[in-house]
Amino acid sequence: MTDAPNRLTIRRPDDWHVHLRDGAVLAGVAKHTAHQFARAIVMPNLSPPVTTVEAAAAYRNRIVAAAGPGFTPLMTAYLTDTIAADEIARGFAEGVFTAAKLYPAHATTGSAHGVTDVANIRPVLERMEKIGMPLLIHGEVTDAHVDIFDREAVFIERTLSGLVRDLPGLKVVFEHITTADAVAFVESAGPNVAATITPQHLHINRNAMFTGGIRPHMYCLPVAKREVHRLALRKAATSGSAKFFLGTDSAPHAVGAKEAACGCAGIFNAPYALESYLAVFEEEGAIDKFEGFASEHGPRFYGLPLNEGTVTLERSGTQVPDMIDANGTPIVPFHAGEELVWRYLG
Ligand code: DOR
Ligand code: ZN
Repeated sequence: MTDAPNRLTIRRPDDWHVHLRDGAVLAGVAKHTAHQFARAIVMPNLSPPVTTVEAAAAYRNRIVAAAGPGFTPLMTAYLTDTIAADEIARGFAEGVFTAAKLYPAHATTGSAHGVTDVANIRPVLERMEKIGMPLLIHGEVTDAHVDIFDREAVFIERTLSGLVRDLPGLKVVFEHITTADAVAFVESAGPNVAATITPQHLHINRNAMFTGGIRPHMYCLPVAKREVHRLALRKAATSGSAKFFLGTDSAPHAVGAKEAACGCAGIFNAPYALESYLAVFEEEGAIDKFEGFASEHGPRFYGLPLNEGTVTLERSGTQVPDMIDANGTPIVPFHAGEELVWRYLG
């Protein structure tokens, strides 16, 4: 890593958690991810969800066509109560599925077909453990009696700790962690457990959703928590620990779907993701830890090669627009209207 005061060059990074959608919006958003990242783990919560090898292969082709050359989408299978272990294993063996995603049913956008009880997919998980296929987890309970700000911590207690104990050989990525509880869990677990951290959970706490009124563009799931949790996430991300790596959870929704009586969850951060993360690392005095988080810890956990090539950022500022036109769909990006300190040069 060359670390001149006003310029930073790092190995080309990857995004280990992104929503690229489909159709016209895919063409409008995939190019932003491909501009900054060599590879991305693509979430399968389309409508209908990506539950077969054929559907994932076809979706991968559409992404490649939309993103252009030089970008590799890494596909995921959407786990349902009834999905067959053979289908998951076949997709992994054929190099179509890189991982499988566990959405507890009704936890978030596009999770209606998710898993109602992890006991239902036990044979699938055992098979994944055996073949070394990573399980990516949206870690929130869906019990309406549990306070929404506690759903991640309760998921650790009720589901995740037992799963990790019973299947110690299973590679688990605890996705988009939002709490000090999750940080502590991941740190105390064995080497098969890691976590992604989004830029928004490093920048905002739950107050951001209510500054002077309701702020739908600050709403995502899991929802941002108290400041103490944000600080724990910043410490984990910038610690240099190989258990934590970059996953934007960029989740675009049309402005009208966010600014509504029942606004969708999701923050579109793909266009300025690296600038956003790097601001945090600089504020924490940890620019030297950025390359590991962005470009090394993820591929090592997944058992994939590190990227060749580099990207460079310079401290000359980026003005984030109020709105981005995603091939005809207007979307408000994370940091809309703000000036970020760093500029991505490519
Ligand atoms: O905020 C979110 N948006 N969280 C998720 O888990 C799903 C995502 C989406 O697909 O919009
Ligand atoms: Zn997501």
